[in-house]
Amino acid sequence: MGTGSTVNKFLNIIHEKFVKNDINIKAVSTSSQTTNLAISLGIEVLDFNNVDEIEIVIDGADEVDPCKNLIKGGGGALLMEKIVANFSKNLIIIADETKMVKTLGNFPLPVEIVKFGSEKTTNHISNLLNDLKYSDFEIRIRRDQKNNYSTEESNFILDLHLNQIKDAYLLNRELMMIPGVIEVGLFLDMASKVIVGRDDKRVDIF
Ligand code: A5P
Repeated sequence: MGTGSTVNKFLNIIHEKFVKNDINIKAVSTSSQTTNLAISLGIEVLDFNNVDEIEIVIDGADEVDPCKNLIKGGGGALLMEKIVANFSKNLIIIADETKMVKTLGNFPLPVEIVKFGSEKTTNHISNLLNDLKYSDFEIRIRRDQKNNYSTEESNFILDLHLNQIKDAYLLNRELMMIPGVIEVGLFLDMASKVIVGRDDKRVDIF
């Protein structure tokens, strides 16, 4: 189970269709938000370390491109989501049509960084973006009311306002090489299927 409003709706459907019919569902969670909801709906939450295999991860996304590449992490759970999705045999993304884009990057790209030296890491990322010829970008540390937002793994998140990502593979690789960067919200070549809900109630699967 991923994290976010889409997953929350999906868990309610699991509850209606399976749990209420006494069909036992076991799952791994990617955030305490998802864990709490799942438990309240009677879905058994397993310790990820005790699981040998995961058949399907169901998650939402902040942006989806035609190659099924994604931006995720708007809700701050990108690190756990990526670890679990990487382990799973299938990653199924559910999105409404507003999430579909030709090129990733209009949604600010979340980058999880360690707290130690966070300003130095931010400068390092800024220099990288200049080297990669991004212009007019902005890097904002995510805030949670008065403080910097802290992830469940106690890290900070930088939101990279890029407008458009030119080469997602290159950017992902270069960001991941910066000491202090823990994870990047680019999920490349990971999604097996995307289910898109349209306003007119049509559903496309690709
Ligand atoms: C959580 O960190 C994110 O990756 C979410 O999966 C993503 O932001 C989609 O969330 P919504 O379903 O709430 O749009």
